[in-house]
Amino acid sequence: MNKPAKVIFGGTCSNSSKIAEELTRALDANLGRLQVMRFPDEETYVRVLDDVEGKHVIYVQSTAPPQDTCLVELFITLDTFRRLRAKRVDVIVPYLAYARQDKEFKKGEAISARTVAKILDAVGVDRLYTLDVHLYRRLGPFSLYGVKAYNLSAGRALASYVKSNLGIEAPATIIPDRGHTPLANMIRDIVGDDFVFLRKKRKTGWEYPKIYEKTADLEGKDAVIFDDILGTGGTLLRATQFALSKGARKVVVAVTHALFLNNVRGRLRDAGVSQVVTTDSILQPESVIPIAPIIAEYLKSRI
Ligand code: R5P
Repeated sequence: MNKPAKVIFGGTCSNSSKIAEELTRALDANLGRLQVMRFPDEETYVRVLDDVEGKHVIYVQSTAPPQDTCLVELFITLDTFRRLRAKRVDVIVPYLAYARQDKEFKKGEAISARTVAKILDAVGVDRLYTLDVHLYRRLGPFSLYGVKAYNLSAGRALASYVKSNLGIEAPATIIPDRGHTPLANMIRDIVGDDFVFLRKKRKTGWEYPKIYEKTADLEGKDAVIFDDILGTGGTLLRATQFALSKGARKVVVAVTHALFLNNVRGRLRDAGVSQVVTTDSILQPESVIPIAPIIAEYLKSRI
């Protein structure tokens, strides 16, 4: 049976439309057109301008800040594809908002990641593709509260970039969170075996974490800190202070999703970070890794 024609659409958030265009070229698909506007009261208006009936729709929407607006656009666009009788609807959400609120940490708290998943399920998503998602640390298929999902990673692309472009001589790789062991395993053959895993604790998302590590041999080494998200920058600031206090001569940071909240750029620089590199999942001046090739590489033999 012939596969349905593929049409790729990009939302308006962050770099989504550019990623959609790049995927269209890489996957030999058609680029679909959307009209997205804000009503005078700021509600979102979406119109699908191309016929999607019987087609395989792939919709790209990163849910970077303003997350809530981007999520509403995502939900109503997906629902519209379904109503217009698309045969299959896949969604690529490079940065998945609310993925850090995946548990009831305190009694009565909302499990927001679950709510997002329930809406994706209700609007009829066939598959969700995401990148270095916080709530699932491994590469590969997983269930996002019942939604079929697949986690890709920019870890290897970031590691190769750091190795080839940043003049790092004696590298030590710092992973601020022990939960990121799968990332370490993914990049070990590129960065070598000198890893420092930190233990951190943070009381709430509003506070900087505390690092509990006592020892690490970083004397005269170039420390490369890898993480999934740069939000307030608290984790990376603490990890940088730790690395410098243990004798590192240089600190660079590689993160998949860089939000740079609360103007943290200057504070990272003042703390001694010489460079931050990131992907274009959220477009920033520091975005040196395009993610479309990572997504296309995975999708091209599978869709
Ligand atoms: C936490 O477990 C994550 O891996 C990141 O370290 C965290 O989300 C970064 O957030 P922030 O920049 O606000 O410390």
